[in-house]
Amino acid sequence: MVQDKNIVLGVTGSIAVYKAVEVASKLIQEGAKVNVVMTQAAQEFVAPLTFRAITNRPVVMEMFNPASEFSIEHVTLAAGADLVVIAPATANVIAKLAGGIADDMLSCTVLATKVPIIVAPAMDANMYQNQISQQNIAKLKGRGFTFVGPGYGRLASGEVGSGRLADIEEIIGTIHQVLGRRGDLAKRRIVVSAGGTQEPVDPVRHIGNRSSGKMGYAIAEAARDRGASVVLVSGPTALHPPVGVEVIQVQTAVEMRDAIVDATKKAEALLMAAAVSDYRPAAAAKSKIKKERETLSIELVRTPDILGEVKGDFVRVGFAAESEDVVENARVKLKGKNLDLIVANDITAVDSGFGVDTNRVIIIDRQGKVERLPLLSKLEVAHKVLDRVVKLLPRKRQNKRT
Ligand code: C5P
Repeated sequence: MVQDKNIVLGVTGSIAVYKAVEVASKLIQEGAKVNVVMTQAAQEFVAPLTFRAITNRPVVMEMFNPASEFSIEHVTLAAGADLVVIAPATANVIAKLAGGIADDMLSCTVLATKVPIIVAPAMDANMYQNQISQQNIAKLKGRGFTFVGPGYGRLASGEVGSGRLADIEEIIGTIHQVLGRRGDLAKRRIVVSAGGTQEPVDPVRHIGNRSSGKMGYAIAEAARDRGASVVLVSGPTALHPPVGVEVIQVQTAVEMRDAIVDATKKAEALLMAAAVSDYRPAAAAKSKIKKERETLSIELVRTPDILGEVKGDFVRVGFAAESEDVVENARVKLKGKNLDLIVANDITAVDSGFGVDTNRVIIIDRQGKVERLPLLSKLEVAHKVLDRVVKLLPRKRQNKRT
């Protein structure tokens, strides 16, 4: 995770430099220590003072700086870093790095470091598509550099094409993913479900619920940040899929079941945060139902119980949104669905449950132990749940061997 990490942010001369200011700001807000290294060209676009004010640290610019706090600046910077991010990265800096040229602070730092390097290119579409740039990028990828973007859209020239600096959210997501590679879920395959399902009534209507998907998306994000390879099976939501997570979009309970059965074949944990519709119309009308009658009945039939149906040796975590007898009802579900853990929340509590960013949950395990958590952000809840999942994972592995 980003907290307390030492990140070198290399900034090169592109019109997208102003976006790097926000990247630095986000990293600082998340508790990272950020050392900005600016090339001379970058300083033509944004004054170093901006980065200095945001990071609360001197901006590194020159090769030979007698006032520097570091002795051999590029070596010290490189050695102290957990990660180097170059955003925006021009065609020029990419070419330099691919050619092993080290003639300024940034290229020297990159050459001197052994930590992961993320590159977010920003350049004109023709420059990006040029074979030379493509070969340089392929070469750096081959050396283990992680590339994020560029995105497609309007460029500074007014043309539309590939070359825009990746969205800030995407850059930050990639930083989380790369820093999480050695986390306690590294190389674990985790399946998460999120959102509510929609069961068609006719071509324009459906039966749904108020699930926002926020809890499941937070789990997917938290698991990614701890190094897991995550498959997120999601009902329709208004959320952005987390970067670095494989997202499978579904609509109905049956589609969700099929996607989860498939995704869990290689999984080590399934966290079912989705609010799956319990019933669906027996048959969806082929054409739009007209308001001709005073009353209308729709026959509903049960949907598959996904947790009940998916078989396999993996950690199984269910969620229970309850409005009464929270612990008792959750215990019944834990037993009935053969779960390792159930995360229960009282949806009548303030700031908890559907739609909001916070949740107050109770985690119950197979042994009946009850852990009551305070009101937390959904991301914090996600980490607390994953702390419990991590502890269950080795047990499952040992079971396999015996
Ligand atoms: O809806 P209910 O409260 O029974 O959900 C409890 C758990 O079971 C949740 O984790 C939910 O995702 C899961 N579930 C399921 N298949 C259903 C209904 C719920 O897997 N058809």
